[in-house]
Amino acid sequence: MFTTRPPMGWNSWNTFGPKIHEKLIMEIADAMVEKGYRDAGYTYIVIDDCWSLRERDAEGNLVPDPEKFPHGMKYIADYLHQRGLNFGMYSCAGYLTCAGYPASYEHEWDDAKSFAEWEVDFLKYDYCFHPVSVRADILYKRMGLALANCGRDILFSACSWGSDHTRRWIKETGASMWRSTGDIMDSWASIRDIAQSQLKVMEYNGHGCFNDMDMLVVGMNGKGNVGLTGCTYEEYRLHFSLWAFMNSPLMIGCDIRQMDEQTRSILTNRDILAINQDPDGRSPFFVNSHVFTPAENRSPDDAFYKDYPLDTPILAKFLSNGDIAIGLFNLSDTEVSMWQGTITFDMLGLPATSGKTLELRDLWSGEVFRAVNGVIQINKCAPHDCRVFRARIVDAN
Ligand code: GAL
Repeated sequence: MFTTRPPMGWNSWNTFGPKIHEKLIMEIADAMVEKGYRDAGYTYIVIDDCWSLRERDAEGNLVPDPEKFPHGMKYIADYLHQRGLNFGMYSCAGYLTCAGYPASYEHEWDDAKSFAEWEVDFLKYDYCFHPVSVRADILYKRMGLALANCGRDILFSACSWGSDHTRRWIKETGASMWRSTGDIMDSWASIRDIAQSQLKVMEYNGHGCFNDMDMLVVGMNGKGNVGLTGCTYEEYRLHFSLWAFMNSPLMIGCDIRQMDEQTRSILTNRDILAINQDPDGRSPFFVNSHVFTPAENRSPDDAFYKDYPLDTPILAKFLSNGDIAIGLFNLSDTEVSMWQGTITFDMLGLPATSGKTLELRDLWSGEVFRAVNGVIQINKCAPHDCRVFRARIVDAN
């Protein structure tokens, strides 16, 4: 299935790990609707690892664990579809899933058929216990092809953690998103490390196949399966803003049944979501890079990034209506200086001869202001915090 927007939804792994069951999924679905998440765009509910029995049945089919899912998977699909939600499931390209349940290697076509029969809309496909004799791209092509022929539109979500040069071949496989990183944990260090590694693979992102920076930890507050120290409100806000800015799929990972107001206000910030879901799906770009001379030009290798300020990236993204999204993400432990927070129009591709200026709206505070003399000055950004704006191009006079 081809998608032009990063998929949005909820996934069971971050909070519940193996502790998943029918009642939980139905309660999450109810909360998605009642608390307005579905209407904000979060439509996929994905059951991750640990949903099946440890053995296939005599015909070789995967069997949902009857203790966890007594009515089977089609029952869940119906419940979700009746509420305007989509159903996601999980398997793996190896012999076993990461938690040791049967996986799809040499069963790709049988399993794609089961998923289609259960009316699944999304398949997350992991990479544990894979045969070493088969190339990574072939393993993903096998399932991509099986899904494309299963008789149902199923979004293929590849999860090989960026290993084996995933970015070079993933678009060939039919995947609509690819995990470009290892697993996230609910801590600032994890968010920062993923952010910095992902700034180096931004250009692989785009329509049809989005870089997946892993599920959100916003609102976990140190609880659940990947809960560690938890993060502050500002850290969660930066995490959400940056994932959105970088076109990552946005899969909520906390228990949305019991979520505080701060968490809700982050996850449903419509202006930030609009940057993520912009119809053009353009990649963000670094604004505060070292200045390249035309002769030097950009080269797409790793050396290119060595001069980038990975501690205080300022990114911009062109939006479909002509606006520019601009974000400063302070991944460092010190306040951003005035010098670091200076953006000239030139850096954005807006020449002085245009006769234009920028009107900026701060997407977290709502404050609106105009840039002066061709410069945007972001004076304040505390450690682990961010400033995100939507800039409109207006006449200078
Ligand atoms: C990991 C994957 C996680 C989760 C887990 C389940 O490989 O990256 O997102 O799916 O397996 O065991």
